[in-house]
Amino acid sequence: MKVRATGRTVDGRGAAPAAARKFARPAIALTLAAAALLLPFTVATQVLRSAPKPIKPDEVYMQPVPGLTHQQLQKFKAGEKQFRAPWVVFPLLGGEWGLGPTFLASSCVGCHVQGGRGRTSDTPGTIVFEQLLRLSVPGEGPDGGPMPHPTYGDQLQVFGVNVGLKENLKPGEAELYIDWIAHSVTLGDGTVVELRKPAVRIEKPNFGPIDEKVMTSLRNTQVVFGMGYLEAVSEQDILKLAELQKSQGLNGRPNYVRDDINQRTTLGRFGWKANQPSIRQQIVAAFHGDMGVTSSLYIEENCPPVQAACRAMPPGNRPELLDYAWDDLTFWSVALDAPPPRNQDSPVVKRGEQLFEAAKCAQCHVPELKTGSFPLLPQLSDKRFRAYTDLLLHDMGEGLADGRPDFKAGPRDWRTAPLWGIGVSKQVNGSVNLLHDGRARSVAEAILWHGGEAQRSRDAFAAMSREERDALVEFVNSL
Ligand code: HEC
Ligand code: HEC
Repeated sequence: MKVRATGRTVDGRGAAPAAARKFARPAIALTLAAAALLLPFTVATQVLRSAPKPIKPDEVYMQPVPGLTHQQLQKFKAGEKQFRAPWVVFPLLGGEWGLGPTFLASSCVGCHVQGGRGRTSDTPGTIVFEQLLRLSVPGEGPDGGPMPHPTYGDQLQVFGVNVGLKENLKPGEAELYIDWIAHSVTLGDGTVVELRKPAVRIEKPNFGPIDEKVMTSLRNTQVVFGMGYLEAVSEQDILKLAELQKSQGLNGRPNYVRDDINQRTTLGRFGWKANQPSIRQQIVAAFHGDMGVTSSLYIEENCPPVQAACRAMPPGNRPELLDYAWDDLTFWSVALDAPPPRNQDSPVVKRGEQLFEAAKCAQCHVPELKTGSFPLLPQLSDKRFRAYTDLLLHDMGEGLADGRPDFKAGPRDWRTAPLWGIGVSKQVNGSVNLLHDGRARSVAEAILWHGGEAQRSRDAFAAMSREERDALVEFVNSL
C-alpha cells in the first residue's frame, strides 16, 4: 500500500489510514451474489478512499506530520483554530477578548498568512504590516536581553484600540514606513543585479520623540512549519556542529537567551537571531508582543509606564489567553510539517546541489540534522530531517547588520535561515521576500547579500556562469 509522502523525515513512514486497513480484510460473510453486486461499489469506494486528498497550493505549509493518532489530530485541529482565531477588544463580538491595547495584528495568521513568511510594504507611504520593528536602547536588560526603550518598549506597536471601546486602528504608538534604497552589483559575467535595503521611518510618535540613541531592527514574519523538528535537535548536537565549523574556518555560535518558563538561561533556537528558547515561549511572546494578549507567563498588559490610557484599559480576561489554548497552539506548532521537496530527480537540480556544496553553502545550511528524544510529540524522536540550517548564529557582515544586539547575538549576527519549503513561498501567500527584513526579492538577491563568514560563498556564486547560478537557485527552490 502506498502512503502519501508528505513527511520531511528521511525515514518517515506514515500509518496506513484506517479505511485502507479495513478494506484489506477478506469479506468472508458475503454470499457470492452479494459480493458480485457489491464489487463495483467496493472498488470505487476503495479508489476514492485511498487516493490522497489533494493539498491546495496555498495549504502546503499547513499540513500535519504523518502518523498522528486520532487524538493528536484533534489537538492539531484545535491548535490551528487558535492560530487562525481573531482577537477583539472586550466587549466586542466576533473574536476572543483581549486584543491590545496596542498591537500589530489581530491574529497569528494575520502576519503568518497560511503559515508563510511576510510581505514587505513596497508602495511608498503604506504603513508596515506583516513585519515588526524591534526597539532597544544601549545596555543590557535585567535578564541579559536587549534594554527596552523607556517609553516605547521593545517593539513598536503601530495600532491601538481606543478607549471608547470601539475597535479603532488609531492611535498606536507611532506610524512605521519603509523607504527602499537601491544599489547595483555586477557579477563575474557582467550581469548587473539591483539590490535594495530598507530605511525605517517612524512618524507621529504619540509618546514623545524617539531619540537618536534608539536601536531598531526590522524583522520580517518567518514561516512557522517544521518547528517541532528544530526544537527536537539535541543541544549537544548543535554544540558539536559549532565545534566542527571551527575547523572549517567558520564561527557558528548558539545564542543563549532567557527561558522565562524555566527561569534560566538556555540555548536559543527561534527567531531571526535565535532569541527564543522554545516554541511554547515563542507563542506567548508573540501573543504579548504582537497582539497585546496576556497569558499565564506574561500577565501584565504590554504598556510601558508612560502609556497611561493603555494601562487603564480593562483586560479581556485574566489572563486573556487560557492555558488550554496555549497548549493546543504549542502542539499544532510542533506537529506542523514542512512541505516535501520537489523535482529532486531533475538534472539541473542535481547540478545545483553540487554547486551548493562547492560554494560551501552546506557548511551553514547543513542539509540534514537529526532529532533526539522529543516527548511532546514522540513521532518526531530520533528522526533525520532536511531543513538546511545549523541553528547557529553567524557574522553575516556589515551589509546585513542591524546594529542591535539580542542576548548573545551581536549586531551582525543572524541564525542560519532554514531553506526548506522556500520554493513554494510564492504559491502559499504571494511572498517572495527573503532575509530578516524581507529585502531580498529572490534567492539570488538573498545570496548576494551574504557577507562576513559567508563572503566566500557569496563570491563563489557571483563568479559562476549564468547557467550555474540558475542551477544553484533551482536547487534551493526545490528544497
Ligand atoms: C506582527 C506580525 C506577527 C504576528 C501577529 C505573529 N507573528 Fe510570529 N513572527 C513574526 C516575526 C516578525 C517573527 C520573527 C521575529 C524575530 O526574529 O524577531 C516571527 C517568528 C515566529 C516564529 C519563529 C519561527 C522560526 O523559524 O524561528 C513562530 C513559531 C511564530 N512567529 C509563531 C507565531 C504565533 C503562534 C503567533 C500568534 C500567537 C504569531 N507568531 C504572531 C511576526 C508575527
Ligand atoms: C556562514 C554561514 C552561511 C553560509 C556559508 C551561507 N549562508 Fe545562507 N544564510 C545564512 C544566514 C545567517 C542567513 C540569514 C541572514 C539574514 O536573514 O539576514 C542566510 C539566509 C539565506 C537565504 C534566505 C532564506 C530566507 O528564508 O530568508 C538563502 C536563500 C540562503 N541563505 C542561501 C544560501 C546559499 C545558496 C549559500 C551558498 C552560496 C549560502 N546561503 C551560504 C548563513 C549562511
